[in-house]
Amino acid sequence: MPKKRILTGDRPTGKLHIGHYFGSLKKRVELQENPEYDPYILIADVQALTDNFNNPEKVRKNVREVAMDYLSVGIDPNKTTIYIQSMIPEVAELTVFYSNLVTIARLQRNPTVKTEIAQKREIFGESVTYGFLGYPVSQAADITAFEGKLVPVGEDQLPLIEQCREIVRKFNSIYGDVLVEPEAILSGNKRIKGLDGNDKMGKSLGNAIYLSDSEEEINKKVMSAVTDPNRIKKDDKGNPDVCMVYYYHKLFSTEEETKTVCSECKAGERGCVACKKQLAKNISDTLKPIRERRAYYETHPEEVDKILIEGTKKAQATARETMKKVKKAMMLDYFE
Ligand code: TRP
Repeated sequence: MPKKRILTGDRPTGKLHIGHYFGSLKKRVELQENPEYDPYILIADVQALTDNFNNPEKVRKNVREVAMDYLSVGIDPNKTTIYIQSMIPEVAELTVFYSNLVTIARLQRNPTVKTEIAQKREIFGESVTYGFLGYPVSQAADITAFEGKLVPVGEDQLPLIEQCREIVRKFNSIYGDVLVEPEAILSGNKRIKGLDGNDKMGKSLGNAIYLSDSEEEINKKVMSAVTDPNRIKKDDKGNPDVCMVYYYHKLFSTEEETKTVCSECKAGERGCVACKKQLAKNISDTLKPIRERRAYYETHPEEVDKILIEGTKKAQATARETMKKVKKAMMLDYFE
């Protein structure tokens, strides 16, 4: 049985945080241990430029940050191919070919794109760019260039995979059965909330804990987390269900600790400051091995580069093979 290729990736627009860790990174580390899978992870710098075209420094810098985050959480370059999207010209070529197979109306209806356009008014104003509207097409190229079979994603990405499947079916019906149709698999965990209770964790919201954060930074951030607003004095009875500190205890503390937190808070027997200190320690302890590995890679950038170069070379060879088949099917294989 040939191995099943898994395709995932991230836009390098910032360092990765614990939301990414629980949302996708943990799952990716797990999946790479299964010998039936052949995982590829792309650092989607071209996609990052679709909404950061005016900030190439940011994208450039974060390619290495994201690579270090991957390595620190335990993505193993011997098991997972890590590569840079812009270094695979076939992805750009396929994007052009696929753009004939998708209508503008269909892109405008894509729920993920719709939501993002609404969130990015300050970048796009009233009129979105061709590149951003078309990024699902380029994401279809990301997946199919490597014959990705499984795509572990969060729920917000499902419409992109659906659109990719439509492109594949259309391509295959016109040019012959060449492309592999991918399937989405949900990464399991739903998105985790920010320290402020916001549904989304992100840099611009200032509510994220990064994998690279020091103990002091974690402490400071946890101290600012939102707690039950009705609890003013220590012996006021609290409602843990509206408290972000309790929410995070459930992610980072033992079951026993979490139970105690809940019952003491409800009974008014627990101060918020002590509760936060305990949480900060647990987060910090959990992230310690990640933070230490990251510190290692920060001082060994040549190792990070080597991993990226090797992964990219391997990915280039894979994409070249796919492109041969695609060009033949599209009758673009001149002088072969
Ligand atoms: N759109 C994804 C995100 O914003 C990143 C991405 C780019 C991706 N290409 C991909 C994910 C291919 C899975 C497969 O997180």
